[in-house]
Amino acid sequence: AGTLGSAAAAKGRYFGTAVSAQYLGESGYVSTLDREFSSVTPENEMKWDAVEATRGAFTFGPADRIVNHAQSRGMSVRGHTLVWHSQLPGWVAGLGAADLRSAMNNHITKVMQHYKGKVFAWDVVNEAFQDGSSGARRSSPFQDKLGNGFIEEAFRTARAADPAAELCYNDYNTDGVNAKSNAVYAMVKDFKARGVPIDCVGFQSHFNSASPVPSDYRANLQRFADLGVDVQVTELDIEGSGSAQAASYGNAVSACLAVSRCTGITVWGVTDKYSWRSGGTPLLFDGAYTKKPAYDAVLAAL
Ligand code: XIL
Repeated sequence: AGTLGSAAAAKGRYFGTAVSAQYLGESGYVSTLDREFSSVTPENEMKWDAVEATRGAFTFGPADRIVNHAQSRGMSVRGHTLVWHSQLPGWVAGLGAADLRSAMNNHITKVMQHYKGKVFAWDVVNEAFQDGSSGARRSSPFQDKLGNGFIEEAFRTARAADPAAELCYNDYNTDGVNAKSNAVYAMVKDFKARGVPIDCVGFQSHFNSASPVPSDYRANLQRFADLGVDVQVTELDIEGSGSAQAASYGNAVSACLAVSRCTGITVWGVTDKYSWRSGGTPLLFDGAYTKKPAYDAVLAAL
């Protein structure tokens, strides 16, 4: 097959990209998106500060534009993200515990109900664990005021809001076996044992020379899959260029394909020129939408 989406489909997977609504009027962006990708994740448009900047007042326009575009082209949509410490409006951090709990549950419920039947998987909770060796939770308004139980509560609320959607936990620096991924692993294992609804774990997979594709990436994806959840590569980008970058991309894609429950891969943007890593070249298409060696390596690995 000659495109990322069709090659992935032949392997029973999706191949997605993060999309920003502001570029949907640019012909090179849209033609590349439409030709190559079978799934999209709104890069910022579904985050709390974008959809509920003011308590109880929901703004879905920019996210709707992405979802409508995806639906019109038969692409699936990953929802990103419901509960996260970042891109969180100030009013949330100012709430007391009881108010914060009801605001979190209302936010999850209203956003998921709006996209019911249109979003196949949600990053219900994003980045709730610390980096480093502690395996501890990250400080956030949710963690600090609601305690460890906030993640479980968020997933239970999400299941009730849209029982058909896959509910994912998503994080970074959890791609290989390490203290942080061990802590997420323990949480998922506990959720499965106690019947807390969780269906998938997302591995952001932001790689660079200091944090390359881990040698135990496949093994780590597999151990999570063995807990009875799907795994997804959710925000893949790899700094670098040329053949070295291409080889890393090929390895990352092969790792997912080697895990039967690795159901899809999303890269974090269409083109280097709009990457969140300003100045870097971590994606599959250059600023002119020309295919890079990394693109060829991904297609060959699919
Ligand atoms: C990034 C976006 O790409 C940027 O445009 C924005 O300014 C900041 O957030 N982990 C995540 C994503 O889960 O939501 C982040 O996206 C990148 C890191």
